[in-house]
Amino acid sequence: MKIAVTGAKGMLASVLARRLTTLGHTVLPLDLPEQDLLQFTAVKNYLRAAAPDFIYNCAAFTNVDLCESEPEKARAVNALAAGNLAELAAELDIPILQISTDYVFSGAASKPYLPDEPTAPLSVYGQTKAEGERLVQKTPKFFIVRTAWLYGHNGKNFVETLLKLAQTNAALKVVDDQRGAPTFVDDLVEVLILFLTCRDYGIYHFTNSGETTWYGFTREFFDLLNIAVPVQPCATAEFPRPARRPAYSVLDLRKTQETFALKIPAWQDAIRRYIKGR
Ligand SMILES: NC(=O)c1ccc[n+]([C@@H]2O[C@H](COP(=O)([O-])OP(=O)(O)OC[C@H]3O[C@@H](n4cnc5c(N)ncnc54)[C@H](OP(=O)(O)O)[C@@H]3O)[C@@H](O)[C@H]2O)c1
Repeated sequence: MKIAVTGAKGMLASVLARRLTTLGHTVLPLDLPEQDLLQFTAVKNYLRAAAPDFIYNCAAFTNVDLCESEPEKARAVNALAAGNLAELAAELDIPILQISTDYVFSGAASKPYLPDEPTAPLSVYGQTKAEGERLVQKTPKFFIVRTAWLYGHNGKNFVETLLKLAQTNAALKVVDDQRGAPTFVDDLVEVLILFLTCRDYGIYHFTNSGETTWYGFTREFFDLLNIAVPVQPCATAEFPRPARRPAYSVLDLRKTQETFALKIPAWQDAIRRYIKGR
């Protein structure tokens, strides 16, 4: 198949594009500076001429705190550009898969969020991603895959940040009052590929299975790597950030699990594989 992948240099899309190529697909990569998704007409013309069979929209303005001070740019990239791609997908009568986020939810729940639960984002990032979801739903052949707490080999992520901090600090504090599910990019990519042949359009969730806090996640990979730097749990309030984060953003995975008859790897298993591959 001929497959357009946006945000192709990013943490998720770079792995996705490489895997699709390995599987024999032709990938049309779109990323800055060559293809700016905000050049709506140019992007449409480029894709009309290239005539892809499927679009993965992985591009986003992902700096959650910076989105608070640049809401117009956040809306343009996370919402309007997604809407533009969905319009084109409708015109070409092809499926589009939009990557979205647990941050579309408020975090007030105490059990995993189902795909069809109402969204109530707390941040500009979450609001603009939720608007992107609504715009993408205007085309009949849409998939929205919400994921969370991504880490992978090709990008800045929480794991690498903490490992760097451990080299320069005698002790660390990590927040212990946000619950979610860390997700290894490689595991997400394997599932994203299954959507190429899926016809059950709609909203799906994928993370690694289980749940933890950022503190619990840190403890696990520090123990695995025998890092002796003491880690103390702390409250989000101790580290004020511009954007509010959901306190509880575990996603219910059953729809994805059942659709593809999957056994989703636990986050503890995923972090072991990530570390082996470093
Ligand atoms: N990271 C997470 O923890 C997480 C959690 C849940 C959901 N997600 C979602 O997962 C997807 C992939 O995230 P990621 O972590 O792989 O993000 P990433 O590494 O920041 O990749 C996003 C890519 O999109 C590009 N991009 C931004 N604006 C663009 C534009 N106008 N035109 C073309 N490309 C543009 C970025 O380029 P620049 O770097 O040059 O801006 C970057 O290469 C996103 O939809 C994100 O919302 C991420």
